Amino acid sequence: MSQAQPVIAIYPGSFDPLTRGHEDIARRTLRIADRLYVAVAYSPTQTKKSLFTVEERVEIIRDVFAGEPRVEPVAFRGLLVDFARERGARVVIRGLRAVSDFEYELQMAQMNRELWDEVETVFLAPELEYSFLSSSLVREVAGLGGDISRFVSAPVMARLEAKLGG
Ligand code: COA
Repeated sequence: MSQAQPVIAIYPGSFDPLTRGHEDIARRTLRIADRLYVAVAYSPTQTKKSLFTVEERVEIIRDVFAGEPRVEPVAFRGLLVDFARERGARVVIRGLRAVSDFEYELQMAQMNRELWDEVETVFLAPELEYSFLSSSLVREVAGLGGDISRFVSAPVMARLEAKLGG
């Protein structure tokens, strides 16, 4: 790759909703990439009951990164590698919160490379205080009236309150 080529990364996930842990990973990515697609999957590998629609999740990400022109929120259907190739993104970003994430992440990284041999997966470690976070825990705690203000930023809080009628 020539020095002049911008590094375009893609951070895929379900982001239902985006947490401060995801935000942390995205902001760290901007230290090593020129542009970042935060990409919400219509077809996640693991089936989960969703709270926000894919479109709502993209809007939330847009609000959170409103001041960061290098981040572009998008939704994608089908295979991640097909979408990444279309957008010229050769670097897939994933966060590794704990050793327990590793096996699943390694499988996905290897499968993605089988599907497109030009893609590289880069794993980033989140800030320690976010290493236990997950979107489903945030959904659960918010749904039961717990305080999640430390775990999600203001636009996410507002959407959760509106959605859950808080
Ligand atoms: N902070 C907070 N939470 C984090 C996190 C972080 N830094 N990193 C991961 N998580 C959580 C997520 O919140 C999510 O929690 P939940 O299960 O409670 O909702 C969980 O870890 C993992 O979710 P996510 O990172 O969104 O991954 P995923 O498993 O939902 O999605 C895709 C994986 C979308 C990347 C994958 O399914 C995909 O590429 N799909 C497209 C189809 C395809 O190409 N399939 C072949 C793949 S080889």
